[in-house]
Amino acid sequence: MPVPATLGRGIRLDHVSFSYPGTSRVVLDDVSLTLPAGAVVAIVGENGAGKTTLVKLLTKMYEPSSGSITIDDTPLARVRADEWRARLAGAFQDFFRFEFRARQTIGLGDVPRLGDDVAVVGAVDRAGAGDVVARLPLGLETQLGPTWPGGAELSFGQWQKLALARGFMREEPLLLILDEPTAALDAETEHALFERYAAAARGGGVNGNGRITVLVSHRFSTVRMADLIVVLDGSRLVEVGTHEELMARRQQYAELYGIQAAAYR
Ligand SMILES: Nc1ncnc2c1ncn2[C@@H]1O[C@H](COP(=O)(O)OP(=O)(O)O)[C@@H](O)[C@H]1O
Ligand SMILES: [Mg+2]
Repeated sequence: MPVPATLGRGIRLDHVSFSYPGTSRVVLDDVSLTLPAGAVVAIVGENGAGKTTLVKLLTKMYEPSSGSITIDDTPLARVRADEWRARLAGAFQDFFRFEFRARQTIGLGDVPRLGDDVAVVGAVDRAGAGDVVARLPLGLETQLGPTWPGGAELSFGQWQKLALARGFMREEPLLLILDEPTAALDAETEHALFERYAAAARGGGVNGNGRITVLVSHRFSTVRMADLIVVLDGSRLVEVGTHEELMARRQQYAELYGIQAAAYR
């Protein structure tokens, strides 16, 4: 089946459970959840709670062991993985240092537009990576990587920002995934970046295509901006709501938020 051109309602997980192939441990246990079209959805939970696994199911890197995922009315299981991935964008905690010219390192995020200057510059801007490019001796023409003679070596944070720009090459994704892509940046920079992404995402992207933004972060100052917050704990979904709703419940989210807020005081 074709991937829907736009999202009207959103992405729905129905009783999704998952174990990695060849293992018996249940990593996601009976998760039912709607990611509403146009929303910024944050996923929180301790290390190993299953956040990245959920992202892997949403990006069709794996199929659920049981249960289903639907994109509006289209079962994700029935669409081709490459067609779905062409509609995704984003950045992850683990990224690769592509030792090409800066232009290509970024442009790879949308191979058909690899040589498109306007697209590359736009992605740099959306990712807030302009400062990194400005510091490169030859700008976007700079050869990156110390394995090349004269290649520029970047800090971890600079590589991470270029990876973010790569992840922003596609301008109208249906699903934008940010799985701790800014762990190397300081909390303030992360906050400022996410605020911009959230503003751009609200109302469903530039052309109102209903784009959903999924954001995984350990920083509650960032998480609280989301329209919907999903709390995972030990493979189960334990809470879903807005920051205000979850604070009022005084359960897990409120407790984690309180601990982190106290640490910053
Ligand atoms: N490729 C894999 N094979 C087997 N187990 C995995 C694999 N990737 C992750 N896991 C396990 O799945 C659980 C959830 O991991 P993950 O989704 O990465 O958690 P989080 O992103 O919330 O830290 C962890 O116990 C982890 O060890
Ligand atoms: Mg993870």
